[in-house]
Amino acid sequence: MSRTIARVEICYLQDIIEVRKLARLIAETLGFEKAEQTRISTAVSEIARNVLQYGQGGEAEFLINGQVPEQWLAIILRDRGQGIANLNDILEGSYSSQTGMGLGIVGSRRLLPEYFHIETQAHQGTVVTLGRRLPLSVLITQIDLKKITETLATFRAQSPLEEIRTENHELLATLKLLHQREQELSYANQELLETNVGIIQLYSDLELKTQRLEQIEQVLRARNKVAPIVQTNNALI
Ligand SMILES: Nc1ncnc2c1ncn2[C@@H]1O[C@H](COP(=O)(O)OP(=O)(O)O)[C@@H](O)[C@H]1O
Ligand SMILES: [Mg+2]
Repeated sequence: MSRTIARVEICYLQDIIEVRKLARLIAETLGFEKAEQTRISTAVSEIARNVLQYGQGGEAEFLINGQVPEQWLAIILRDRGQGIANLNDILEGSYSSQTGMGLGIVGSRRLLPEYFHIETQAHQGTVVTLGRRLPLSVLITQIDLKKITETLATFRAQSPLEEIRTENHELLATLKLLHQREQELSYANQELLETNVGIIQLYSDLELKTQRLEQIEQVLRARNKVAPIVQTNNALI
């Protein structure tokens, strides 16, 4: 089974926001958790941005593929641009972008590693397919598909402000996570520092003890040199 549940044209900047919003709504409707919804919508919007920026526009198609229990959400992004010239370098991570951060494609693949496929041809265009297996608890029947398609038809009615608010919320959550990681790192650093100090202290104690032992040894040796006379004396007594 392969059924298209939504399709969006990508012609203007606003369309990327629409695609992102739609991707999240679809992911939510299909039962993905919040974090997964964000992964899906972020990956899709990065590729949609490329469609607009480099492919002079195109479209995003959302489909449900496969049969229960092997059902997938597939997102296909197409354009009729110049094609991606340095695809191998980009995928290997050795590409340096002049137009952005150069992380859109590899970042999207990292976000959706289960299925990520690119077909590109010079002067013909590019087709990127992203896929995510549906949660095991979710079984999509034909009736569900109809409901989902109807729900999606109303998504454009939502206010764009709501979208910005949600995105800000996501950004804040990410920043919080980053801050938390930073604190963990600084704590680990502190621990490492303290461990180092402890080791240095141990070494210096050891050094001191070795020195003392050497001194005692010297004293003993010196005494030993005198001792035979004493012993001889003792023997005489
Ligand atoms: N649809 C596309 N058509 C043509 N070239 C593309 C397309 N998508 C990406 N590219 C090329 O691949 C490069 C890497 O894209 P990406 O990983 O999104 O990073 P960025 O957009 O930040 O440069 C871009 O700089 C661009 O040259
Ligand atoms: Mg990009």
